[in-house]
This record gives sequence, structure tokens and C-alpha cells, in this order.
Amino acid sequence: MRFGVLTGGGDCPGLNAAIRGVVYRATGSGHSVVGFLDGWKGARDRLVRPLARSDVHDIILRGGTVLGSSRTNPFKTEADAQKVLATLAAEGIDALVAIGGDDTLSAARELHRRGGKVVGVPKTMDNDVGGTDWTFGFDSASSAAVEAVGRLRDTAQSHHRAIVLEVMGRHAGWVALATGLGGAADATLLPEEPYHEESLIRQVRSAVSSRGYAIVVVSEGVELGSVRGSAGGKDEFGHELLRERGVGAEVARRIEIATGIETRSAQIGHIQRGGPPTLFDRLLATRLGVHAVDLAVSGRFGEVAVLRGESVRGVPLDEALRSPKTVPREWSDLLHTFDA
Ligand code: F6P
Repeated sequence: MRFGVLTGGGDCPGLNAAIRGVVYRATGSGHSVVGFLDGWKGARDRLVRPLARSDVHDIILRGGTVLGSSRTNPFKTEADAQKVLATLAAEGIDALVAIGGDDTLSAARELHRRGGKVVGVPKTMDNDVGGTDWTFGFDSASSAAVEAVGRLRDTAQSHHRAIVLEVMGRHAGWVALATGLGGAADATLLPEEPYHEESLIRQVRSAVSSRGYAIVVVSEGVELGSVRGSAGGKDEFGHELLRERGVGAEVARRIEIATGIETRSAQIGHIQRGGPPTLFDRLLATRLGVHAVDLAVSGRFGEVAVLRGESVRGVPLDEALRSPKTVPREWSDLLHTFDA
């Protein structure tokens, strides 16, 4: 078989490990692999490079994606959709492995509906793809944010300040939850929960009175009621660019006004998305990349490789895309056990 592989959407650590998994598993059974560059853009515009084992040998160590990525929606117009189908035919692709989050996988589902031979691999630092217990990228991104909390703690302590860290995650609070819990924050605001200013202020006051400083973690997707609208527009899939809303800065402003405690804010932004993947992400991405090839070889197109418990398996793209995975009550209860 001739495999194609692409990485779409926002990058995250672990993509290279997944690509490597695809290449090693496929070539190990006598198949060949080409990569499409910059996500669906490469499939649409026929931007292709061959991938041999020597091209991917040590990329498991590196963040980002050697294939490049984009938020191109290949089914935005019928003309683009036809270009994708033409590329796959011209390149003689027998199986396409689409590695991405909800948007990339939705495009894969649409391709499958049109007869394309495609399997999916879920990734996203947001950890919000349904149907899989964890997505790779999340552990690495959250670990970077936890490290940032440690650095902010040092300076907050020195200056007896409150510091708010805004993290990414779109409309799912997984990264904020992991950062707040793993970084011992005094308060953590999730998009899944209503904003309660009085509780937040109480927690900040309590932390400052007991130890002289406070750390607050805020997810970029939190609704404050009157926060500024997006200044950054939308991407090709219609998603608002949330970091432009400046939720963390607004929360810091409100804390300072309400408490009189000097408050600063920091936005970790894309620093979370770079850097080497954690071991967990390397292993998960590798397993899913390998399994995606196995699905294709068995003719299980239209499926996506997911993690369920200890095992990787294939589930229909429809199932994985049914609803995004947000933070359930069980996890938020655990988080708030440690509030100040
Ligand atoms: O979906 C991953 C993600 O990092 C979100 O957490 C964030 O809102 C978005 O991508 C940022 O997108 P971009 O890299 O296009 O600014």
C-alpha cells in the first residue's frame, strides 16, 4: 500500500512521534509513505514529500511537526474538495492517515463519506476529542504550564502579589485543571463552570492572608460576562481566537480592584505548544500512529485510533466526533478540593 500522512490544526508535542509510528509500522510491512505538507493544504495543493525511516528516526524527540500544519478546511468549497480527491488519486494513495483534533478529523470524516480511504489519529493539547481517554499533546502542554506556575510562584512570593496565569484549551478546561491541580494554584477557573467573582476574591484573600501571595489559573475560554470580544477574528473552521479576549488580564484587573492586592497576569500562549513531548505523549502518539496503520491495513477506513483504558483500538470517526470532551464534575470536584 502507499500511505499518505498529514498533521492538521494547532500543532502540539507528540505529532512527530505519531508520524514516526506511521512510517515505521508501514515500511516494516513493505508499504511506502509520503507526507502531505501543512495539513489539508498539502492534500489540496499536492505538496508532498516521501517519508523513509531515515527521515523520521529521531523526530520522536522533537516538538512541532516535521510536516508542518495549518488550519485549512479542505471542504470549505466544492472546488477544494475535488482538489483533495484529485491529489489522492494522482499520488496513488491507498490509505491516508489524518492526525489532528476535531476539525482535522471532521474533514477526514467528510473525505470518508466521499469514498476516501482515510483513518484518523486524535491529537490536541486541549484534550477535548471525544472517544479517547487522553490525547497526546495535553500532557506536554500542561507540564509546561505547571512549570510556568512554579516560576510565577517565586516572583509572586517575593512581591506579595497575586498572579493570574491564563492557559489555552479553547472551550475545554483540561489544561487549566491540570495546571491548577498540578501547580497547586489557589483558584482555577474553568470554562465548564460559571464565573463566581465573590468565591474567587475570597480564595485570593485567604491565600494572601495565610501565606502572602496567591496564584490563580484561568482558562482562555472562561466567560466573565462582560469580557472584551475577540479582536483576532476566526479561523477557517469558524472558531473564535480566544487568546485575543485577554481573560487572564481581565481577571487580574478585577482581583486588584476588589482586594487592593497588587496583581499581575501572564499568558503562556504558544510556549505551551512547543518543546519536546513528555514521555507519556511520546508513547501515546507512537501507539496511535502504529495502530492507525494497522486499521488501514485491515481495511477499517473511517475509523480513528483511540486510547481506552490501557488499550488502543479503532472507533468510528462519527463516534469520536459526537461531542467534544469537556471536564466532568468528578474532575472539577477534585480540583476544587485544593482551592484556598
Ligand atoms: O486547539 C489548540 C489551541 O492551542 C487552543 O488551545 C488555542 O485556543 C488555539 O489552538 C490557538 O490557535 P492558534 O495557534 O491558531 O493561535
